[in-house]
Amino acid sequence: MTVGIDKIAFHVPDYFVDMAELAVARGVDPNKFLIGIGQDKMAVIPKTQDIITLGANAAAKILTAADKKEIDMVLVGTETGIDYSKSAAVVIQQLLDISPFVRSYELKHACYGGTAGLQQAKEYVLNHPDRKVLVIATDISKYGLNSGGEPTQGAGAVAMLVTNNPRILELSDDNVFYSENVYDFWRPNGHDYPLVDGHLSNDIYIEGFKRVWHESNQRHQRSEKDYAALTFHLPYTKMGRKALQSIFPEISEAEQNRLMECYEESILYSRQVGNLYTGSLYLGLISLLENSTSLKAGDRIGLFSYGSGAISEFFSGRLVEGFKEQLQPAKDEAALAERQQLNVAEYEAMFAESLPEDDVETEFSDSTPYAIRKIAQGIRYYNQ
Ligand code: HMG
Repeated sequence: MTVGIDKIAFHVPDYFVDMAELAVARGVDPNKFLIGIGQDKMAVIPKTQDIITLGANAAAKILTAADKKEIDMVLVGTETGIDYSKSAAVVIQQLLDISPFVRSYELKHACYGGTAGLQQAKEYVLNHPDRKVLVIATDISKYGLNSGGEPTQGAGAVAMLVTNNPRILELSDDNVFYSENVYDFWRPNGHDYPLVDGHLSNDIYIEGFKRVWHESNQRHQRSEKDYAALTFHLPYTKMGRKALQSIFPEISEAEQNRLMECYEESILYSRQVGNLYTGSLYLGLISLLENSTSLKAGDRIGLFSYGSGAISEFFSGRLVEGFKEQLQPAKDEAALAERQQLNVAEYEAMFAESLPEDDVETEFSDSTPYAIRKIAQGIRYYNQ
């Protein structure tokens, strides 16, 4: 029996700011953001949307009425939780009209939460092959206006349906994981933005990748030649590139070119959105699968997941015959292209807006699906 990703989709906010314009406004050479960071556009989210609306919108793109009856678990990976206690998963389950006979909960380990959910989903379906698990990775990345991390912000969600005999990617049982207690990026209770040691975080990410990559090759007797492509957590697209290049001294030029070609295909969507935190690795996977012309059934894809704090995990899966038919490249490209561009002043104004204090009842006029329509007594009410 095989278990893995049967369906996958992403959702991003309707607004973006152009990175060259942002660079000029910040008095920085645009090439620092376009090449040095590797981002063209950055998603901007209005106050009427949150991790629940992003996650519900992503999942709504893949679920059928039959799926909703066969789902046993709704797992939400996020580090942008909106409640210390209540899980975003149960709200999404209700918004999407998924059977109430489900186990629903939130998972946290910085950007690793989506991968934690995916692995738990895999193990559950292995034991319950007739059932399905919905995994949602949803986040809003904000470091603050004029901050060092500002060009690496973003927002969005990826939803994955994990099943027996999946039609996209069969997950292998080859995970190698490594945890170490590091303060590279953290957000103590009460802080709106993370505290970050940016350069340390880059170093820990690369060291983490090299460690699990080498360990995986040793444990499973593999090399780069066994992988049709490697995909990476993408806080910004230069980061994964640097990690990939860190193993170049060990591999031939032909292999470097082959893997770099696939890397370019995997970052096309992230370049236009920015950091999705938990969803970034999986947005990269969608971008690769939708834009590659060389991948075929049976090819092994390596995935590197990183969560600050820090955990590194490398695992892989094999593409399934007909995987392309389960994807929606035209719709995804249109969704990215049809977003509204904000100038820097508009971005700053939208960024600064926040929901009113919990006890002030307020209604909103955002009529897009699953947007927040009202907030009262700390409860968010959503359009359905
Ligand atoms: P910085 O100090 O603004 O930038 O911080 P820099 O001076 O290091 O420059 C960045 C790159 O631009 C450099 O290239 C420069 O050479 C280049 P590199 O040496 O890295 O190859 N550059 C130029 N290139 C072309 N033309 C130019 C030019 N000028 C400079 N004119 C930093 C950058 C990413 C550290 C900052 O934005 C930051 O702190 N971001 C947030 C942290 C982050 O994203 N870390 C990534 C690893 S940790 C992670 O992935 C986990 C995370 O997703 C959170 C989680 O797990 O929950 C963040």
